[in-house]
Amino acid sequence: MSTRHLSPADVLLTQVDRALRTLAPGKVTHQRPSPAQTLNEAELTDSERQHAAGLMRVNHAGEVCAQALYQGQAMTAKLPQVRQEMELAAEEEVDHLAWCQERIENLGSHTSLLNPLWYGMSFGIGATAGLISDRMSLGFVAATEDQVCKHLQDHLSELPEQDAKSRAVVEVMLEDEAKHAHSALEAGGHRFPAPVKGLMSLVSKAMTKTSYRI
Ligand SMILES: [Fe+2]
Ligand SMILES: [Fe+2]
Repeated sequence: MSTRHLSPADVLLTQVDRALRTLAPGKVTHQRPSPAQTLNEAELTDSERQHAAGLMRVNHAGEVCAQALYQGQAMTAKLPQVRQEMELAAEEEVDHLAWCQERIENLGSHTSLLNPLWYGMSFGIGATAGLISDRMSLGFVAATEDQVCKHLQDHLSELPEQDAKSRAVVEVMLEDEAKHAHSALEAGGHRFPAPVKGLMSLVSKAMTKTSYRI
């Protein structure tokens, strides 16, 4: 395995490159094909289409946050094994990011204009958690993924029944996020107390409400 030492400038450039690729439309490519790929486009009314696009925009914004969170953590995690795991998880999230982006485009809409803001905030939170401790960092991943799972479950009940394409993307994401939460706890993540999770839930509600619209 390569142990090449990266200078602070190298690290900064890598981070800027990742951020731009996450935020610029069409710059991410998926490893796994989209779960929507083989399904037929459903007949949707204008309002159903808008609603589905709004929900997928929220999911995409969540994936932008996941990228930033993992990048921030990978930068400050102390144990090489934790750092490696964070980078691996971030790569899996790239699929989600690309699938959501593709789906939003197919629904004739756009990703959230607030994504740069969410990226900056999440990167800061991730880097801070990593600075505190690896256990904290992994615990934060687990708590965040739990939150994401709840949103995805809600979206499955809110998406138009006939929109099989959006539903297929959300279903696979839900499986992956549950796996991420589980492995972060298995790796020694701190179990966050209910009040902290409650606060995280409030922040994510504010984020989802705004991303649904803009
Ligand atoms: Fe994800
Ligand atoms: Fe995840």
